[in-house]
Amino acid sequence: MLAPVLDPLRNKLPVVGALPFGMERMDEATAARYGLVPSQRAQAQGLVDRFGRAHTSLRISVTERCNLRCSYCMPEEGVPLHPKAEVLSFEEIERLAALFVRLGITRIRLTGGEPLVRKDFPQLALRLGALRAQGLARLQLTTNALLLEDQLPLLREAGFDGVNISLDTLRPERFRAITRRDGCAETIAAIRAAARVFQTVKVNAVALQGTNQDELCDLARLVAGELGLEMRYIEYMPFDGNHWSDSQLLPAAAIRAELEREFELLPLADDGTGSGTAALHGLRDRATGARLRGRVGIISSMTEPFCSSCSRLRLTADGMFRWCLLDEAELDLKAPLRAGASDAALMELIESGLSRKRAGHAPAEELLRAQSAGHARSMVRIGG
Ligand code: 5AD
Ligand code: SF4
Repeated sequence: MLAPVLDPLRNKLPVVGALPFGMERMDEATAARYGLVPSQRAQAQGLVDRFGRAHTSLRISVTERCNLRCSYCMPEEGVPLHPKAEVLSFEEIERLAALFVRLGITRIRLTGGEPLVRKDFPQLALRLGALRAQGLARLQLTTNALLLEDQLPLLREAGFDGVNISLDTLRPERFRAITRRDGCAETIAAIRAAARVFQTVKVNAVALQGTNQDELCDLARLVAGELGLEMRYIEYMPFDGNHWSDSQLLPAAAIRAELEREFELLPLADDGTGSGTAALHGLRDRATGARLRGRVGIISSMTEPFCSSCSRLRLTADGMFRWCLLDEAELDLKAPLRAGASDAALMELIESGLSRKRAGHAPAEELLRAQSAGHARSMVRIGG
């Protein structure tokens, strides 16, 4: 038998507590023996905020434009858009995304607006997919799917691991009322097509009291039952221009109660395919006793917030870094980027932004106040 080869340098490393492999803090002399130079700001632990939350997920909005006008997302007249020159180019997105990956991001989700309306979108996806060599583990997409079927082959080539598709209703007239456009049957067809191509397809519905409340079970039957996918119900959140009110919010407890009319809910442990925001449940049909193939997820940002396990960051289409969906604070990365800032300077800015992240999101009243004061963003301009 061969004698084990001992690495003399490793043997002399100081052991600090029981940190997992790769997290040891090397002292300067040891680092020098490896040929390493300690930087001013150690980044080995990734994007950790003041509360010890490690941020591993980045959502990048690639456009503010959208081919729908969902009432929960934007006002009917649309929103004023940044001129094209103010929107990050593919090169700029790629540079910032690479820096986020260097800092510890392992999942990137591309959002909008509607990401597929951005010209040459699959090219961007291909470029970001190349970050896998630098540590990116997942590349995902959130879309309303209206343009999805045409782009499926290219998107598959771009190597997306998963796609989230928005669908709030199975009824065309309701679809029109919610989105102010047509496209219900097309969206459902695109979900079926996507399920044949991508490993993970999830369907998102914003649960709205008095609008689609009576369809939550039907959505589960189609998406979790027939298609075997994950059907997610999202609590209605207040964003600029969406006329949010308590009376339309369907709390997670009411979502569960709606589903329990027809199904037994079987709580599931998080399997790591999401970013820990959805409470997952299997379903057993009360009428037949059969278990549905897929599952449901309930995203309770408002009534049962999950801020303590939040691992998400956002980059808006106009290059603003946001560390909380429900906090109007943001930090401009585009201006320094365009002024020639170095990688180190940009990474430092990202970390300084993150250090301002609060323990929990602002309460609804504060969000509504920011909106009436005119310094809030609609969802379409933040990125879903
Ligand atoms: N509340 C909750 N979710 C929202 N989305 C958009 N606006 C809201 C809102 N006000 C979600 C939709 C869509 C994604 C892009 O963002 O579910 O799937
Ligand atoms: Fe467009 Fe999505 Fe907003 Fe609907 S929710 S208007 S599909 S960005």
